[in-house]
Amino acid sequence: MIDQSILVLDEGTTSTRAMLFAQDGTLRGMEQADLTQHYPRSGWVEHDAAEIWDRTLACAQAMVKQAGGADRIAAIGIANQRETVVAWDKTTGEPLSRAIVWQDRRTTDFCAQLKDAGHEGMVRERTGLLLDPYFSGTKMRWLLDSEEAVAKAVKGARLALGTVESWLVWKLTRGNTHITDASNASRTLLMALDASGWDADLCDLFGVPIAALPQITDSAGELAHTHADLFGGRIPICGMAGDQQAATIGQGCLSPGQTKATYGTGAFVLANTGSTLPWSDHRLLGTVLYQLDGERHYAIEGAVFVAGSLIKYLRDTLGLIGSAAETEELARSISDNGGVVVVPALSGLGAPHWRPEARGIISGLGFDTGRAHIARAALEAMAHQTYDLASAFAADGARCTGLRIDGGMAVNDWMAQDIADLLDLPVTRPDFVETTALGAAMLAAVGCGMKESLPDAAETMIGATRTFEPAMDDAVRRLRLKRWDEALAKV
Ligand code: G3P
Repeated sequence: MIDQSILVLDEGTTSTRAMLFAQDGTLRGMEQADLTQHYPRSGWVEHDAAEIWDRTLACAQAMVKQAGGADRIAAIGIANQRETVVAWDKTTGEPLSRAIVWQDRRTTDFCAQLKDAGHEGMVRERTGLLLDPYFSGTKMRWLLDSEEAVAKAVKGARLALGTVESWLVWKLTRGNTHITDASNASRTLLMALDASGWDADLCDLFGVPIAALPQITDSAGELAHTHADLFGGRIPICGMAGDQQAATIGQGCLSPGQTKATYGTGAFVLANTGSTLPWSDHRLLGTVLYQLDGERHYAIEGAVFVAGSLIKYLRDTLGLIGSAAETEELARSISDNGGVVVVPALSGLGAPHWRPEARGIISGLGFDTGRAHIARAALEAMAHQTYDLASAFAADGARCTGLRIDGGMAVNDWMAQDIADLLDLPVTRPDFVETTALGAAMLAAVGCGMKESLPDAAETMIGATRTFEPAMDDAVRRLRLKRWDEALAKV
């Protein structure tokens, strides 16, 4: 019997990766390419969908080659940045405009109009989401209203709309399959959390033609096959989930109450709610965690828009640090933040505040403030944003008793300890922090029959962890929280 691997395509906001996993969850190889971020106007963020495809394909082909050919790959699993919208032509398979990225705020006014017209209650009840430009529905409407090529394609019944996994599956199958899994569909504002298809009333409200949307599927199973020309043989696509849902699975949060926080471009806290429909009275989101054999599992989510992107901003735009790793050294070089607070509302505030118009601030600057204080305050902002989410979870009756953290930023030991300290909770971090990719590998392994179930995949694929115990003085915590709240009030 040949030793087959799982190929994961982890398509994030700033980079796309192909990763090869062995059956025991060991990483065998990785190829990565950065994605160009386009900021055409303040608050707008776009991607080139053709670039996403070209770079993802090149990374995937390199991994298939490393594995020794298509027959060495048991299945593909896809995890993707969520809510980002791609419009393409079904006849040519080419994008009709730039993709509008989840961070984009251009539909703020449209959301406000819908809120003023009293639609938010119904939208929340059905979808678990709020009227915020973050989600896909209003972005789709913007494309239909503002991009001539998109408007023409819809008239000619040639328009395909989808989130990034739909786009990748379309390209991987050379236009044979137009699907999205339920976890991604639950981020669009167009699907009721407990319904199997698109919601006609919601599609009407947002002005999105159902005919252009993909079919909603399970998150695991034989979902599609790649075109034989791409990898020298057909490979089944057997797992698909939004990246935050995939990370929740990759952290083994498979039972109700288990909670993870991923620190990637943004920070996303998800708590498994099992088969109970999630509901929040404190402006958290209800979302599909995954769907297997038509059965939905849900999560409650707090989404924070800026995490790793703040460190990237300090490095690339302000030139304050040379590398992300330097923040840990700088934070350790001083005994406290010197009164400096960074509120990283660079693209508005997400949960639990939901203020798309807010912008970031650095407060408490004095002549004694150095770059170490700003770097430390930037890292501290991660713990503060997580604390605000944890408070909303607790107010909803879902108090965390421990938190599992992951994502690129979570390798920072100082930050991991600070989160444990501020939240006064043990924080557990897997040695392998790429849990998003691991979760997609687990779904694909279940989908292709390599593993019996997700608990089986979790038991055999998830590795060792390290725990950070809280050790902060209460008075220090109280002062930190007070200063953060004061700074937040100024945003
Ligand atoms: O909802 C947006 C989220 O999916 C983005 O994830 O990994 O790019 O921070 P990431």
